[in-house]
Amino acid sequence: MEYLPIEKTFGKKGTVKVRGWIHRIRKMKDKVFIVLRDSSDVIQCVVKDPNMVKAADELLVESSLEIEGKIYKEGRAPTGYEIEINNLNIIHNSEDFPIGKDQSPEFLLDQRHLWLRSRKMTAIMKIRSTIFGAIHEYFRNKGFYEHQSPTFLSAVGESGSSVFEVNYFGKKTYLAQTWQLHAEAMMFALEKIYTIAPSFRAEKSSTSRHLTEYWHAEMETAWCEFKDLQDHCEELIKHIVNKVLKENKKELEILKRDLKTLEATSKKKFPRMTYSEVLDLLKEKANMKIPWGKDLRTVEEDKLSALFDTPVIVTDYPKKVKAFYMKESPETMGKPEKEKTVQGFDLIGPEGYGELVGASQREENIEVIKANLTKEGEDLKNYQFYLDTRRYGSVPHGGFGMGVERVISWICGLDNIKDAIAFPRTMTRMSP
Ligand code: 4AD
Repeated sequence: MEYLPIEKTFGKKGTVKVRGWIHRIRKMKDKVFIVLRDSSDVIQCVVKDPNMVKAADELLVESSLEIEGKIYKEGRAPTGYEIEINNLNIIHNSEDFPIGKDQSPEFLLDQRHLWLRSRKMTAIMKIRSTIFGAIHEYFRNKGFYEHQSPTFLSAVGESGSSVFEVNYFGKKTYLAQTWQLHAEAMMFALEKIYTIAPSFRAEKSSTSRHLTEYWHAEMETAWCEFKDLQDHCEELIKHIVNKVLKENKKELEILKRDLKTLEATSKKKFPRMTYSEVLDLLKEKANMKIPWGKDLRTVEEDKLSALFDTPVIVTDYPKKVKAFYMKESPETMGKPEKEKTVQGFDLIGPEGYGELVGASQREENIEVIKANLTKEGEDLKNYQFYLDTRRYGSVPHGGFGMGVERVISWICGLDNIKDAIAFPRTMTRMSP
């Protein structure tokens, strides 16, 4: 007889075989109750045979077992079924498991390699897997090629303040914050490309939204217009949410996730507004007076997200707060530098989950890019390959980057981004 995943035993009759780990164990005088878990679910098992009770009495939480026994309905059991064990094969009797009830978040992070076995982390990791699959599916269905960029870089892609420097055989190099600069070069061959890869940010603050190593889903596409980028982004997020709502009902229940914003995101069109409109809205609805030209901070993004039950797309930020590669908005051409805006957008997640996506049309004009880089104090020598992309058949193009753990955090309703990844890396945490 084959071993069945625990969830596949529910509703069966007669004898079944399952294997897994002891989630909980309760020892009585003449019987032992074991809640067994595998990757699929948990099931209550009971040992009644006196010889087996003796062996089961020695067992500790997380011991690994193979079990054969009769299955039947049992209303008092955690998942409604019980197996009366008639064959117990102990694979490994665990040592005393260090994790008990009500432990502090820091302790659980120290024990993350063991805490991954919890129902909560297992549920999150399953949703994470669905999300990665949905991203691949979305882009491949739309005719994008998957492409990989290098991690060691000679030029900084985003902001110099959050870049990790690496000693590369005595030469200074950087860990990739984004695939973008190399993706823009690749785009001239494949036209529509995407990736999911780790990005690195030397974030000096410990917040509930920042990791130093996170997974970045990025796309770059030739011949696109600014609206196309926003459409792709909205469709991608909807596709991810729909997939999770369909495939992870059980996990969302384990996480006690309120589905309100997920369901709204699946059905409603996302509001799209310019940065200037956001300032007006925040003044009117939240009495927040933000001087034009200042970037939106976490508090402002949170206030904005509280006004909607779906993600919000904010476009046309002031040029001075955005990256050198963003294309100037046609509406501000010829205006003084400090009044210019760019065709970039951020997608702000609901419920205060912050910026989930950063995007832009790319500046096509080599002279504007050179001027922007020089203003930021960058050495043009390091950007020769990038500048070449504007020398040989420059075309309108754009792309975006989505922080996958930020999306997971929101979809799972997590308090901290650290739970969206198995082994989080932050300024203060490098292990396990
Ligand atoms: O807005 P960012 O910096 O954009 C870029 O890197 C572009 N080059 C992307 C592109 O156009 N190809 O980062 C994109 C997203 C953010 O919206 C955020 O979701 C996530 O990456 N992100 C982080 N996620 C976790 N921890 C951090 N420290 C993050 N920094 C950015």
